[in-house]
This record gives sequence, C-alpha cells and structure tokens, in this order.
Amino acid sequence: MAADPGVSFVTRAPEKQPDLAAAPHTARPKVWIEGVMKSYSSKAVDNLLALRDVNLQVRPGEFISLLGPSGCGKTTLLKIIAGLVPFDSGRVDIDRDPVTEPSSKVAMVFQNFGLFPWRTVRGNVEFGLEAAGVPGKLRRETAEEYINLVGLGRFSNSHPSQLSGGMQQRVGLARALAVRPEILLMDEPFGALDAHTRELLQFEMLSILQKTQATIILVTHSVDEALVLSDRIAVFSPSPGHIMEVLDVDLPHPRDAAVKSLPRYAAMRQHIWDALRPVAKKDDAS
Ligand SMILES: Nc1ncnc2c1ncn2[C@@H]1O[C@H](COP(=O)(O)OP(=O)(O)OP(=O)(O)O)[C@@H](O)[C@H]1O
Ligand SMILES: [Mg+2]
Repeated sequence: MAADPGVSFVTRAPEKQPDLAAAPHTARPKVWIEGVMKSYSSKAVDNLLALRDVNLQVRPGEFISLLGPSGCGKTTLLKIIAGLVPFDSGRVDIDRDPVTEPSSKVAMVFQNFGLFPWRTVRGNVEFGLEAAGVPGKLRRETAEEYINLVGLGRFSNSHPSQLSGGMQQRVGLARALAVRPEILLMDEPFGALDAHTRELLQFEMLSILQKTQATIILVTHSVDEALVLSDRIAVFSPSPGHIMEVLDVDLPHPRDAAVKSLPRYAAMRQHIWDALRPVAKKDDAS
C-alpha cells in the first residue's frame, strides 16, 4: 500500500486476539470476531469462499464501518454477527456469548428500507416492539418517541409509499432504534438514495445516533461516508474478504460537512483510496 508522505495513521492489522478469558472485564469488546471462515455452496457454485480468516474487535459504543469492494463479504459478515447466517470456523461472540441465533441485543437497518407497505409509519416502528412482547400503550409511546427523534412526527399515520426515500430510511432507523438495541447493524442504509439526500441523512443520522449508546457497525462502499461517520474503518480485501487494515478516524467531533475540508480528512481519504486502488478500477467505491 502506498504511504502518505508526512502523514501518520494509527492503523493496525487485525491481529489474532489474546485469550478472551485473560482480558480484564473493562477491556472486553462488544463484538469479538476471530478467525472467521465462511463459504457458500449453491447449485451454481460449489464451495465459494466468501470470508477468509476475518479478525475484528468492536468496542462498546463505537461506530465502525466495514468498507470494501462489491462481493467481498461485508453483508455476509453482518449477517453472521446478526446470527442469521452460520459460519464454517472461527468465533463470533457478543458480550462473551457465542452467536448462534438472532439476539434481542441486535437490530438491523437494510439498504432497501425493508418496510411493510401495508403498515403505517407507526405500525412499522411498532413492529419490533410487538415481536418483543411490549404491551400496547408502551409500544405506541415508544414508537412515537422514536418517530419524533427521526423528525417524522407529522407522518405517523402515513404509509411508506407516501414518503420519500430519505423519509422511509428514517422510518427504518426509528424501527431499529425503538427496540433499544445494544448493537445496530446497518447494511448500506443510504445506498438507494440520491447523493444529496444521502449526505443530508448521514449528518442527520450522526446527530440522532449520538443520542443512543448503541455500538454501530455500518457496511458501505463509500470512503466519504465511512470517514464522516466512523470512529474506525475496517478495510476489506477483494473476495474472499479479509480485513486488510483497521484505521482510526481521528477527525474532530461533532462532525458536519466542514470536516471534509480539513487537510487531515483529505490525507485519510487518500490513504484509504491507495489501499483500495487495485480494487477501485473494478468497483464503484466513491
Ligand atoms: N446466499 C448465498 N448463497 C451463495 N453465495 C452467496 C450467498 N450470499 C452471498 N454469496 C456470495 O458470497 C460473496 C460475498 O457476498 P456478500 O453479499 O457478503 O458481499 P458484499 O461485500 O456485501 O457485496 P456488495 O457490496 O455487492 O453488497 C459473493 O461472492 C456472493 O456471491
Ligand atoms: Mg452487501
């Protein structure tokens, strides 16, 4: 990888981790991913290796982005953390418990919004609370709280088809946050939006998420999105996905559009592009 002259970064390769039992309690990561291998077999392709020896520790309360080219296994890793997809070998723990099935600690926001078209905004936000057995009055109050948090108070009774893409994505975010997840997984949540809406929603989401304590793992193709939002960025190799580098994003908080004009931002952006360069010719990273 080409180095940036005169610029140093606190980066590290995601090494094998020390023995979990030996780590002091306060140092324990929220999500512990070690040596994860994952292959798929289908009628079309037998034994396709999707993830190769993936190692990552996610700290409590941090915002980390998974950045890499199309097909490198980002969604697969997110689904493994969510307990939706099994893996071949390695370990994935949340709070020291091995992930074997979906957990109530985890909520997910999808790229295509994943809203129920027949439900209102309130009905969609209440969905996860219903599944969790939250009784009616508390469910409605909680849903309203999070609908207000994402600025859609006037639209509680609207259906998704009556909302813009950005508004629908905010409903998806409210639905995920309403169950008060400890870990929020987001798979390219802005992917379906135009560039302008995408940028506005990124900063809006940042201020919303600062009001929660959740640990956030975001999948994105966009270097800028990762830089603006993250505390750290895990950069993936092309398929089979392997984390090549973990980068500390030491840009000042709170962040707004002005952060992009900082020399530090430009240097970090260049550094990541250099890491992705062999890949970028074939991919749409932006
Ligand atoms: N259910 C599945 N069955 C078979 N192969 C799969 C399945 N899901 C993913 N794959 C394969 O695993 C690899 C990684 O896919 P994945 O969706 O995790 O990549 P990604 O990094 O999220 O890509 P993108 O950025 O395009 O969303 C790809 O080669 C894909 O074809
Ligand atoms: Mg994906």
